[in-house]
Amino acid sequence: MSQQVRGVISRAKGAPVELTTIVIPDPGPGEAVVDIRACGVCHTDLHYREGGINDEYPFLLGHEAAGVVESVGAGVTHVRPGDYVVLNWRAVCGECRACKRGRLQYCFDTHNAERKMTLEDGTELEPALGIGAFSDKTLVAAGQCTKVDPSASPAAAGLLGCGIMAGIGAAINTGGVGRGDSVAVIGCGGVGSAAVAGSRLAGAERIIAVDLEDRKLDWARGFGATHTANARENDPVEAIRELTGGFGADVVIDAVGIPQTYEQAFYARDLAGTVVLVGVPTPDMRIELPLLDVFGRGGALKSSWYGDCLPSRDFPMLVDLYTQGRLDLDGFVTEEIGLGDVEDAFARMERGDVLRSVVRL
Ligand SMILES: NC(=O)c1ccc[n+]([C@@H]2O[C@H](COP(=O)([O-])OP(=O)(O)OC[C@H]3O[C@@H](n4cnc5c(N)ncnc54)[C@H](O)[C@@H]3O)[C@@H](O)[C@H]2O)c1
Ligand SMILES: [Zn+2]
Ligand SMILES: [Zn+2]
Repeated sequence: MSQQVRGVISRAKGAPVELTTIVIPDPGPGEAVVDIRACGVCHTDLHYREGGINDEYPFLLGHEAAGVVESVGAGVTHVRPGDYVVLNWRAVCGECRACKRGRLQYCFDTHNAERKMTLEDGTELEPALGIGAFSDKTLVAAGQCTKVDPSASPAAAGLLGCGIMAGIGAAINTGGVGRGDSVAVIGCGGVGSAAVAGSRLAGAERIIAVDLEDRKLDWARGFGATHTANARENDPVEAIRELTGGFGADVVIDAVGIPQTYEQAFYARDLAGTVVLVGVPTPDMRIELPLLDVFGRGGALKSSWYGDCLPSRDFPMLVDLYTQGRLDLDGFVTEEIGLGDVEDAFARMERGDVLRSVVRL
């Protein structure tokens, strides 16, 4: 029996989001319905509303969530009703050329539920990143559910479902940050601050946080930044070089994702250093660099999908670090809000007032 619940949808480009009634079908084979307990507001939700991802409106927004499995479809064995899970947006297939080579984190054929959630009039909804968790319940592929320690608060654990995992993974998995490295992070919202926290976990010696807002820089210090630079007042490339003996950082993480910050990241890294792009550009953006500099500076230019994470490996591990007090996930939760407050939360995100607003259900 399908069920009706509340959900936050984006109906048209740039229009304010709406809280409305949505219809959740029973889970089909390999699928699960999850009772959502918390869902963070990520910048990618705003990208969806702005038409920056695609134009398959209406979207059911929200994708950074923890909840409890309510029901599962045929053939689902790794989770069952009652399990406390964090949702992921890259359920690996196990069959594609990446998976077959043991590189599951790159799976080229990740999947979502096939059954469709709809509006009451039957209009099919496009769930953000195949999740759609600004809702009382959502339907996902069972592989999108990863069991974690139920003692972790949903607001904190859910953040691992997107931005915080992406940031931590951009540093540790993609950037390969290790003991003694110098790291610079450009853009210290939820994702960038998590890259700072990940760099500290990995033992970086120097962590330079760059943002336009002093408030973000103060928060970044709390997560482990040893130095900060406000990009309104200083040229980030010069500031980062100055703080690294004139050379640049071993790893520079662009957590904004615009040509200007990418170019800054490119020139703010040391010779043979690594650039990690984790911020998501829009389709119109272009970058122009002297090819000789690309060659001459050596090193690696990498992009980080979801922090190159493997949910089955990384979510339980990071939740354990959190429950042990070694990873401050609570520090990312600036405020807890209701389902009707998402539009206001977008405005606060754009003003730079929050690291994460988290919808609690
Ligand atoms: N790669 C992934 O898998 C992944 C996952 C989640 C989010 N993202 C993307 O990461 C980006 C950041 O997301 P977020 O949720 O942290 O957003 P956010 O809005 O919370 O943070 C962005 C931060 O960048 C700062 N900023 C903006 N322009 C800047 C500039 N020119 N120089 C320095 N700082 C600047 C802002 O002040 C803000 O603090 C977005 O593009 C989002 O879509 C990527
Ligand atoms: Zn695969
Ligand atoms: Zn996200």
